[in-house]
Amino acid sequence: MVFVTGGAGFIGSHTCLELLKAGREVLVADNLCNSHASSLERVERLAGKRLSFVRVDVCDREALEKIFSEYDIDSVIHFAGLKAVGESVGSPVEYFSNNLGSTLSLCSVMRAHGVNRIVFSSSATVYSGSFGVPSGGFSESSPTGECTNPYGWTKFMSEKILSSVCVANPDFSAVLLRYFNPIGADPSGEIGEDPEGVPNNLMPYITQVASGVRERLTIFGNDYDTPDGTGVRDYIHVSDLARAHIKALEFVEKNTGCEVFNIGTGRGTSVLELVRSFEEVNGVAVPYVVGARRPGDLGTVFANVSKAERLLGFRAEFGIRDMCRDAWNFQKRNPHGIK
Ligand code: NAD
Ligand code: UD1
Repeated sequence: MVFVTGGAGFIGSHTCLELLKAGREVLVADNLCNSHASSLERVERLAGKRLSFVRVDVCDREALEKIFSEYDIDSVIHFAGLKAVGESVGSPVEYFSNNLGSTLSLCSVMRAHGVNRIVFSSSATVYSGSFGVPSGGFSESSPTGECTNPYGWTKFMSEKILSSVCVANPDFSAVLLRYFNPIGADPSGEIGEDPEGVPNNLMPYITQVASGVRERLTIFGNDYDTPDGTGVRDYIHVSDLARAHIKALEFVEKNTGCEVFNIGTGRGTSVLELVRSFEEVNGVAVPYVVGARRPGDLGTVFANVSKAERLLGFRAEFGIRDMCRDAWNFQKRNPHGIK
């Protein structure tokens, strides 16, 4: 059975759906601090299959110990974590203790129970910006470790923890997935991104402007060295990202040691291009103003995806228009979120 921490969240719920579709047995552990259990009921309905769920804080080693004794767990996908960059600057202790505490408790309980396979949610945020973006995009060997906020450091340090465990235990297998910019929703519109309060990220902001919840989007700078001056990112459909986890799981089942993979499309899209695609595909207006750059932002960030293609056999299938259509479909069907 696959133990999925943070499985009720945005990426976790889409991955649980793919896991069930692939015939896997799934046990979700989530404390619901940023999600709702109803997302899991929706996953079960979409898959036509059941999963198991425990409401638990993954930092709680004793609770994990009990779960690992009760269930037949053979691999872990670790999504659980706090992820708001701005919030992490104001609450570093909460971010370090939650994001590192969960990884450490898991490693310790996995060792005690001889569970040696883990897939971890890392982020493109671990790449250093000061060397510029290589012409083919960030590759897994690009420099890391100049994070500009505590959230980024928790990803960097969790990577270090897991790679060290692989050195100490030759039977251990860890895949670190560095996600670029996951957006969109399952095409059914039943599960998707459901942020509390003012969204930090671009796509949820766009959908809230399109639906009238917010008046207009502020584009953070149009003076970058990019074709239209606005920031360029590598957006990936969350259902593609979910599929990448199935490939990663197959990889940890066949290999030992620690491998890092970028998960993106390898293509960059600017803020203005994303806004225009969204308007065109969905026939809605997204009013915007151009404001100042957001501190810490880079002009261009995109992935070199050749390693994931070569070793995982993973390639994203959905394009920007699909991402815009599915994000809007989810927003329309769930104007008040999933709860
Ligand atoms: P999310 O907030 O929707 O999901 C995270 C889930 O973890 C939530 O359901 C939350 O309730 C749960 N959780 C948090 N701390 C927990 C704890 N101590 N114990 C149990 N459950 C806990 O976020 P997401 O977008 O689905 O992200 C999943 C993972 O991917 C996170 O680790 C995030 O940092 C990482 N990531 C996300 C993005 C992105 O753009 N969404 C990009 C890169 C990496
Ligand atoms: C953000 C996080 C990063 C995280 C990633 C994926 C910051 C500084 N970085 O990166 O650590 O790994 O999300 O979750 O928060 N934009 C606007 N207006 C908005 C919002 C965004 O113009 O209201 C622009 C940004 O300047 C950027 C692009 O849209 O050019 C994408 O922004 P966002 O969705 O926040 O993702 P990242 O900046 O890539």
